[in-house]
Amino acid sequence: MKRVFAAAATCAALCAALPAAAQFAKPEDAVRYRQNVMWLMSNHFGRVGAMVQGKVPFDAKAAADNADLVAMFSRLPYVAYVPGTESIANTKALPEVWSQRDKFDAAASNFQDKAAKLDVAAKSGNLDQIKTAFGDAAQSCKACHDNFRAK
Ligand code: HEC
Repeated sequence: MKRVFAAAATCAALCAALPAAAQFAKPEDAVRYRQNVMWLMSNHFGRVGAMVQGKVPFDAKAAADNADLVAMFSRLPYVAYVPGTESIANTKALPEVWSQRDKFDAAASNFQDKAAKLDVAAKSGNLDQIKTAFGDAAQSCKACHDNFRAK
């Protein structure tokens, strides 16, 4: 027990000091991480979208739960755009992610803001508010993909 605690304490001290890149053992892991987060986020975003578009009946709790997940996922993928992973075989990230990092980070931050607003709107249970916030968030996905993701 003592040893486990000592190991955990060592990690707490050391791991905090490691750069973001060290969170991934291999470059492929960083690519997989950012793609998987995007995929999951897209899935939960789509569930809100289906209600917004009237394809499935509006369910306030499901909308709030899914928007909550989108807001959480919106904070995750950007640390995985580690330098050196721009040429990993199956990535669709364009080189501009790295050559225009400020612009990419701004697009990420704009999207996080829109995802947080969608979360607030979804908690209100008001479908009109959700529709507006969903549209804004979808725009910010597209804005980033247009500039930073290969077709
Ligand atoms: C700040 C930029 C940015 C924002 C915002 C963004 N994306 Fe992405 N997205 C990317 C990039 C770059 C890739 C390519 C990642 C790769 O292949 O390494 C990607 C990949 C994807 C993929 C493919 C995942 C896979 O399985 O390979 C989906 C789906 C996706 N995004 C959906 C979304 C949705 C939906 C939103 C908004 C709710 C969103 N994205 C917001 C940049 C962004």
